[in-house]
Amino acid sequence: MCNSSLITITLAFLISLSLCLPLAQPEPFSNTGTFATNSTYANNLYLILSSLPSNVTANGGFYNASAGQDPNKVYALALCRGDLDTGKCYTCTNTSSLEITKQCPDQNEAIRWGAECILRYSNRNIFGTMEVSPFQCVPNPNNISSTDLDQFNQTLNNLMGSLVNQASLGSSSIKYFAVGDKSFSSSRNVYGLVQCTPDISQMDCNSCL
Ligand SMILES: *[C@@H]1O[C@H](CO)[C@@H](O)[C@H](O)[C@H]1NC(C)=O
Ligand SMILES: *[C@@H]1O[C@H](CO)[C@@H](O)[C@H](O)[C@H]1NC(C)=O
Ligand SMILES: *[C@@H]1O[C@H](CO)[C@@H](O)[C@H](O)[C@H]1NC(C)=O
Ligand SMILES: *[C@@H]1O[C@H](CO)[C@@H](O)[C@H](O)[C@H]1NC(C)=O
Ligand SMILES: *[C@@H]1O[C@H](CO)[C@@H](O)[C@H](O)[C@H]1NC(C)=O
Ligand SMILES: *[C@@H]1O[C@H](CO)[C@@H](O)[C@H](O)[C@H]1NC(C)=O
Repeated sequence: MCNSSLITITLAFLISLSLCLPLAQPEPFSNTGTFATNSTYANNLYLILSSLPSNVTANGGFYNASAGQDPNKVYALALCRGDLDTGKCYTCTNTSSLEITKQCPDQNEAIRWGAECILRYSNRNIFGTMEVSPFQCVPNPNNISSTDLDQFNQTLNNLMGSLVNQASLGSSSIKYFAVGDKSFSSSRNVYGLVQCTPDISQMDCNSCL
């Protein structure tokens, strides 16, 4: 996945993941630290998380907002999948805002990729900036048979290439969102979905995807 600013999902949205930055494994994150219970940062965070679901649904599936003043300022954003209705968008962001504080109880920075929405917050300004890390690959456990593999791969590459081009034009009714499918055998299709947050440039969306 391309982050914050972006999500790329191919094949399946299978599970929900929360990452409390920095990740245990991958390198490119600086340690952004933790906050204390009942701190100003904590209160700013809870305030903004609780306001996200209504604001995201009121704003067509994407919303970014900050709360408080430096050094306790919290930047948060949420993005719903472009094909999600308002009710599901609300439920997903509501669930995510609760889950992220459970799974990342005191991290200054965290991201949650849900099946239908992403939610992210940080103590640094993350708005309007393309970031390609952290990155998560979630394999679909269903295998493609070896006889179909070449055709699958070729179809997949064509499909994703065209979805990336289409999405990054930003001209669809849901900005930077594209979804589609193509058959790779007589009975099976490959499905793709790509989406960037609408606060980044076309060029950044294209290069991330
Ligand atoms: C946090 O604040 C609440 C309300 O002021 C208080 O009841 C609670 O004990 C505090 N918790 C900690 C860990 O300081
Ligand atoms: C965001 O939500 C809060 C609380 O629901 C509300 O007070 C605020 O006006 C909303 N902001 C926008 C820009 O919609
Ligand atoms: C959302 O981010 C943009 C920058 O991309 C910023 O100009 C705007 O003020 C932010 N919105 C809120 C409510 O903070
Ligand atoms: C948001 O989530 C909480 C906790 O699961 C739940 O109690 C509440 O009803 C949800 N709000 C809405 C409007 O769905
Ligand atoms: C898919 O292939 C891998 C590697 O050959 C194998 O370990 C795995 O069990 C297969 N999964 C399924 C669902 O058949
Ligand atoms: C699938 O296509 C990609 C991109 O062209 C290539 O890197 C990869 O090796 C291919 N995989 C298979 C199994 O053919």
